[in-house]
Amino acid sequence: RAPITVPALRQMKQRGERIAALTAYDASFARAMDHAGIDAVLVGDSLGMVVQGGANTVSVTLEDMVYHSRCVAKGLRSALLIADMPFQTYAGPERALDAATALLAEGLASMVKLEGAGIVLDAIGYLSEREIPVCAHLGLTPQSVLKLGGFRVQGRDADAAKALLAQARAVEAAGAQLLVLECVPSTLAADITGAVGIPTIGIGAGPDCDGQILVCHDALGINSGHRRPRFVKDFLKGRDSVEAAFRAYVDEVKSGAFPAPEHGYA
Ligand code: KIV
Ligand code: NA
Repeated sequence: RAPITVPALRQMKQRGERIAALTAYDASFARAMDHAGIDAVLVGDSLGMVVQGGANTVSVTLEDMVYHSRCVAKGLRSALLIADMPFQTYAGPERALDAATALLAEGLASMVKLEGAGIVLDAIGYLSEREIPVCAHLGLTPQSVLKLGGFRVQGRDADAAKALLAQARAVEAAGAQLLVLECVPSTLAADITGAVGIPTIGIGAGPDCDGQILVCHDALGINSGHRRPRFVKDFLKGRDSVEAAFRAYVDEVKSGAFPAPEHGYA
């Protein structure tokens, strides 16, 4: 397989090929995903929960992200490596540029992801103008958990849905080249996917996004004591290896079998 580039993801959207993504935190899992045909691997700050055992993602540091990104990069040949920008590392464009540069130069990522629109649009624009590929993340933004008071579905009433659609257009206009939609109603995610030219990657956002992502542990049925959200599916169930599970995930995302309507929110 040829290495997946950022423009290649947009071409996949244009020809209607779904993008299969998973999170990874180390070289071995990254290698298994790469062999299984995963298009993009995210070093998510979810590592604060699934690797470090924390209650949320707020305590993850840039150093943590650089370390895990470097580990994951060692396992990849083709899949695109995206690294999360940790809490407050993009509070201001200059700070964002320093953090993103570290993730690209030291962590070997090809794209960085940051959460939100609004005040974050400045950082998205600043990075994009300086040749750093940016993935935006809207809907449920886990770094907002302390203000939100918990992890719950976003964009459920008409006003919130309108606001989310406007945010999606704004992050694209600011220069984002990819958009993660987390825990939003399936119909809203479909509307956003149709309204923007950049690919959308859903998690708890129904079957009509341009691609899908799951936390690796969730895709393998490893539950760290949290209640299992409805969008999660255990791909290891009934299979005899982790790589077979990742292959099944890729197949089901590409064919549209996953996510099914029951994995989404009304
Ligand atoms: O940190 C993470 O794993 C993420 C994905 C769930 C999109 O941001
Ligand atoms: Na994240």
